[in-house]
Amino acid sequence: MVKPAPELQKFGMERTAGLAAELTPSQRAPVSHWVPIRTLKARHRPQILDHLIQLDEHDRYLRFGSHTPLEHLSRYVASIDFKRDEVFGIFNRRLQLVATAHLAALPMGASPAGPGVRAMEFGVSVLPSARGRGLGQILFEHAIMHARNHHAGALVIHALTENRPMIRIALRAGAKLETQGADSEAWLSLPKDNLGTHIEGSVLALHAELVFRTKRLALRVKNFLMSGFGLF
Ligand SMILES: CC(C)(COP(=O)(O)OP(=O)(O)OC[C@H]1O[C@@H](n2cnc3c(N)ncnc32)[C@H](O)[C@@H]1OP(=O)(O)O)[C@@H](O)C(=O)NCCC(=O)NCCS
Repeated sequence: MVKPAPELQKFGMERTAGLAAELTPSQRAPVSHWVPIRTLKARHRPQILDHLIQLDEHDRYLRFGSHTPLEHLSRYVASIDFKRDEVFGIFNRRLQLVATAHLAALPMGASPAGPGVRAMEFGVSVLPSARGRGLGQILFEHAIMHARNHHAGALVIHALTENRPMIRIALRAGAKLETQGADSEAWLSLPKDNLGTHIEGSVLALHAELVFRTKRLALRVKNFLMSGFGLF
């Protein structure tokens, strides 16, 4: 699945040492443990909007491929179809949504893999403070499994050609890349789903939900203790 070095080099693979200098040490330290990824529902729209608002204008441009004022963000969040699509989120210890990905079903016929192939589009954002630690990559791998479970034969990524992190994530998974000036489209052929991918999807979602509830309880207990048992 790993792409040969020359193709990745165009997107900075050879500059890993340079990258380390651009990012702080804590950002560069890759997450070494399992990361719980929650499946978000319609009730999470406020958190998703809050996350997107924290991205600066350039990041929003990279995420949506155009300048996205705040009212467009609200419209985008309101329009997410949680029945048809899937939205994933990674929360930190303070229960802040630090990374989110939208896996959207594309209309039939819109797949670069062929007219009869069902395709889903992957869009992602990670807050700057959590970048460079592999969360974008982890969400991408998670989305691959869920797209397979939705019987998609292809995963599509629209990215600006300047977006090296996103293109590197897609190429590493073996995606084909077509570049037209400032815009790039990458797509990945997906193997069929199987019992294993469905069990994995359900178990991971359940586990992530339990971890989130435990974190929430721990935070409530901590806040209660800090407030002097609610007496002061
Ligand atoms: C694209 C994005 C999601 C990547 O998130 P991330 O968690 O930092 O990604 P990862 O840590 O998994 O890193 C992926 C690769 O990009 C590289 N990378 C990270 N930051 C980089 C930077 N500033 N410049 C170049 N490469 C970078 C990483 O080193 C890694 O490659 P490597 O494993 O070969 O070293 C994040 O940068 C982001 O939210 N950008 C704004 C929104 C966006 O562009 N969305 C994508 C379009 S849908």
